[in-house]
Order: sequence, then structure tokens, then C-alpha cells
Amino acid sequence: MLKKCMFIVFIIVLTLSLSACTSAKPDAPGTQKFTVEELSQYNGLNGSKAYVAVNGLVYDVSGIPQWNNGAHNGLQAGQDQSSAINSAPHGTSVLKDLKIVGTLVK
Ligand code: HEM
Repeated sequence: MLKKCMFIVFIIVLTLSLSACTSAKPDAPGTQKFTVEELSQYNGLNGSKAYVAVNGLVYDVSGIPQWNNGAHNGLQAGQDQSSAINSAPHGTSVLKDLKIVGTLVK
């Protein structure tokens, strides 16, 4: 009887572990892939999300006050701003506080 119970518990634990592993979605946050064209849809205009790419990573700047409507010091979201960030007073130090949504594919 005890052996049977232990076997059932083992099966339940195994099933829960397997479902936890397989429930990870391929497009979970941070793993989305964007072409330059797809990225351009996230320009922060008309209520859209505001994403910017820097050195191959795509960052979410939606909700950042300095990026209101996707605009920031002459820049617009939805683009690869790898060069522009080098001329910013803050440099790349601001990136560590932004959410990474995925990568830019060429
Ligand atoms: C990919 C490019 C860029 C990103 C991701 C970015 C991101 C940010 C973020 C998140 C902030 C808010 C920082 C905070 O609240 O602590 C900020 C502020 C600011 N950014 Fe940018 N920025 C970029 C490019 C630029 C450029 C090109 C300039 C100017 C040439 C610039 C000038 C500023 C200034 C003056 C502030 C306000 C002061 C400060 O927080 O340092 N940024 N930026």
C-alpha cells in the first residue's frame, strides 16, 4: 500500500515538473526577434509600444517620461539607436534599468 502511494506521489511530482518545463512560451519576454521593419511598428506613436534597439538588443522605453510618444531628444522609438546613444550625456548607463524585450535580427 505504502509503495503504491509513493508511486502515485512520484507520478504527480513528475507530471507537475514536466508541465512546468513545457509551459515556457517561445515568445516569453526578452526572447522576441525583430527585423528592422517589425521594430519600426513600435515607435510609441498612437498608443503603440516604444522600443529601441541598441547593439542588437531591443529595449522597452514605453512609460519612460523622457520618451513620451516615443520621442527623445530628437530621436524616435522604433529604430536602431546604437550610434545615437554614444552621443547622449548618459551614454549606455541608462540601458541597465530598461526591460529587454528581445533582439534585432538583420
Ligand atoms: C538609444 C538611445 C537612448 C536611450 C535608450 C535613452 C534612454 C534614456 C532614459 C531611459 C532616460 C531616463 C533616465 C532616468 O530617468 O534616469 C534618458 C534621459 C535623458 N537622455 Fe536619453 N536615451 C537615448 C539617447 C539619448 C540621446 C541621443 C540624447 C542626447 C543627445 C539623450 C539625452 C538625454 C537626457 C538629456 C536625459 C535626461 C537627463 C538624464 O537622465 O541623464 N538621450 N535617456
